[in-house]
Amino acid sequence: MGAITLNAVEKWYGEVQVIKGVNLAINDGEFIVFVGPSGCGKSTLLRMIGGLEDISRGSLLIDGQDVTDQPPSKRGLSMVFQSYALYPHMSVRDNMGFSLKTAGAPKAEIAEKVDAAAETLKLDQYLERRPKDLSGGQRQRVAIGRSIVREPTAFLFDEPLSNLDAALRVEMRYEISKLHQSLSATMIYVTHDQVEAMTLADRIVVLDAGRIIQVGTPRELYNHPGNVFVAQFIGSPKMNVFGCEASGDSYTVPGGRTGPYPVGPGATQMGIRPEHILVGASGMGQCDGTVDVIEYLGADTFVLMDCGAAGQINVRISGDADLKVGDVVGLSFDAERTHFFDADGNTINT
Ligand SMILES: Nc1ncnc2c1ncn2[C@@H]1O[C@H](COP(=O)(O)OP(=O)(O)OP(=O)(O)O)[C@@H](O)[C@H]1O
Ligand SMILES: [Mg+2]
Repeated sequence: MGAITLNAVEKWYGEVQVIKGVNLAINDGEFIVFVGPSGCGKSTLLRMIGGLEDISRGSLLIDGQDVTDQPPSKRGLSMVFQSYALYPHMSVRDNMGFSLKTAGAPKAEIAEKVDAAAETLKLDQYLERRPKDLSGGQRQRVAIGRSIVREPTAFLFDEPLSNLDAALRVEMRYEISKLHQSLSATMIYVTHDQVEAMTLADRIVVLDAGRIIQVGTPRELYNHPGNVFVAQFIGSPKMNVFGCEASGDSYTVPGGRTGPYPVGPGATQMGIRPEHILVGASGMGQCDGTVDVIEYLGADTFVLMDCGAAGQINVRISGDADLKVGDVVGLSFDAERTHFFDADGNTINT
């Protein structure tokens, strides 16, 4: 079991408050991802859950039990960090079994658990090696294996893959996803990586300046962001947001044309993702844009358009499409995928 509940959790360093009243109920077996800008408090919150940082105010419950004042060893959680923190003088086997050994587990039990974890993580061949004789990905697997043998109630990961190269990150992402399926343990995972967040999470928690801004499934956050911050934080490249003039049944793009779409009262900004804009002949759609920068990625091309008063708008087109810097085109926004925000940046439901 690994249900984790945070009640009005706060963190103060002297006069400075870095975590501001976080309430969150994590279900047993859930994969939760914390995202947010650098310095927003992701690691601090994770370390507070793990017991490596005190909770200044509020409470933390694991399976209904208040563990706010319990040391890490009593919480039954296991942390995996970006730096693997393996013992260099020990073999992979000894690194993985170390916590069980210090807890006084019998040798046979340690060997059995290490072997099982090594098999899951495809480390069987490396058990007698030292960490220095392993690749970065293999070392990170050992760090994860060391957590698995402890059979924790939940795994806490703080950017575990950020030291790995792009190809290895993808491979390890699959591994972690499969691990979650096979162990069905609760996992809380901090990352900067959009793809990791979207692909691994059952629910994503978006944090900013020590507060939870929105919690939802990847699809909910992508399709129904609650405000401009989440709209632009989830999705890559980010959503285009610009001012608009709106009345009851239409909006006008600054310097552009009117879009027929029911808009609630008070919309001052609108948003549209690069993948929800269609490029046509100039004069078509909601505004014209002049091609400014072309980023060819193979399957897709992202085109930064200069749209005058509406500013720069990023548009995704097919990698095969043929546009040149200086071309003038018309941009049509998918009406179903257009977002509107009020002066405070909150989403207006239409
Ligand atoms: N000991 C400390 N004293 C004062 N402030 C601290 C202390 N430790 C962390 N902070 C502050 O707490 C805030 C949150 O830090 P934290 O490391 O949790 O951010 P993060 O979201 O994990 O960032 P990153 O994405 O860069 O890892 C930061 O503004 C940081 O400066
Ligand atoms: Mg951090």
